Amino acid sequence: MRGLPWTLQGVWVDLFMHGRIIVAATILMMIAVLITGMQSVETPAESDDARVELGRHLFYDPLLSLDSTTSCASCHQQFSAFAHIDHALSHGVNGRIGKRNVPALQNLADQPTFMWDGAIENLDMQALSPLTGHDEMGETLPHILTKLKSSRAYPSMFFAAFGDSVISIPHVLEALGSFCATLVSVSSRYDRYMAGRDTLAMNEKRGLEVFRGKCASCHAEPLFTNNTFRSNGLPVDSALRDTGRIRITFDEADRYRFKVPSLRNVAVTHPYMHDGRFKRLRDVLGHYGTPSGHADHADPLVKTIGVLRDDQKKDIIAFLLTLTDDDFLRNPKFGDPRR
Ligand code: HEC
Ligand code: HEC
Repeated sequence: MRGLPWTLQGVWVDLFMHGRIIVAATILMMIAVLITGMQSVETPAESDDARVELGRHLFYDPLLSLDSTTSCASCHQQFSAFAHIDHALSHGVNGRIGKRNVPALQNLADQPTFMWDGAIENLDMQALSPLTGHDEMGETLPHILTKLKSSRAYPSMFFAAFGDSVISIPHVLEALGSFCATLVSVSSRYDRYMAGRDTLAMNEKRGLEVFRGKCASCHAEPLFTNNTFRSNGLPVDSALRDTGRIRITFDEADRYRFKVPSLRNVAVTHPYMHDGRFKRLRDVLGHYGTPSGHADHADPLVKTIGVLRDDQKKDIIAFLLTLTDDDFLRNPKFGDPRR
């Protein structure tokens, strides 16, 4: 959840997905110009752009970490939809290993909560956790400010973004949040198929049908999540002993529940699950399709999936591959600004 401009962004995405972007853009601009008369003053659009650009520089800058080795992008890599494909658990400064798998970053403006257990409810505040987390970037806020203030480039970028070259932590957080909110993925083959602009092969269509019958109750279209916390029946890892959502709510019903993740770009976000226990989609389908392996705390909706035949698993995987959005994975606007 973010402030007003990002509510507009949510509207924008909705309109975009329905293919009416040009009409929407014109109407939004006309409304904006009528209400604020903003053509004559510095346009919010311009400073929004500068904010996003500043956020992008910060996102890719290892300066923000304790030993200047680790940036947000060290863990969140564009080619894997801003997840991290090398490790099951996250790797931070000094090789410190975290307790959870790095999630993809996409369509965050539409997400009500963040982290596998929903610990954080505001996208701007989210960055505080990795910046100061011992196993992530391990830095202190005053030291981050000192480093940014003594850099040559940042004061003028903060001025362009916020009309003030004094660098503050709220502005650092807001810039990072603004950049993260631009990471929108809506151009997969599935999206084009739904808009009537592309076709799916027979096996992909069959996969979509099985998926709608057995998976979409939680991984609901079009974002492939219903934004709830559930147990999908994974046996508890006895070393990590991650209890999930109950850590936040203290509600016994939330024990072993985790956020239903979006499945957009799922072909490139491996390994899977909060602890990265599965390397391949085949392993994931093996889990869902083998009811005898489900933990007792599995959600009733997982229990109703039943045994999945091999052909059903293959079809579902073929469908999931249509959720890959190459425009998103290669968009230079989301890449390292120093390259
Ligand atoms: C050391 C690896 C690492 C670094 C560095 C890192 N993250 Fe993350 N990020 C993670 C992990 C792991 C999670 C999930 C944590 C959890 O669920 O407890 C996460 C979660 C997130 C989320 C929530 C996504 C969601 O869908 O819930 C956002 C947004 C995010 N990170 C942004 C950032 C930003 C911005 C930075 C830089 C300031 C950053 N991350 C640095 C590993 C990292
Ligand atoms: C009851 C809700 C529910 C149903 C039904 C469900 N899932 Fe999930 N799914 C989840 C949850 C919750 C997670 C995260 C679990 C965790 O990490 O502990 C998840 C994780 C996943 C992941 C890993 C994604 C990632 O980024 O790590 C994939 C892939 C997946 N599900 C596919 C499916 C498929 C395919 C089906 C149907 C056969 C299905 N799910 C049915 C709730 C559900």
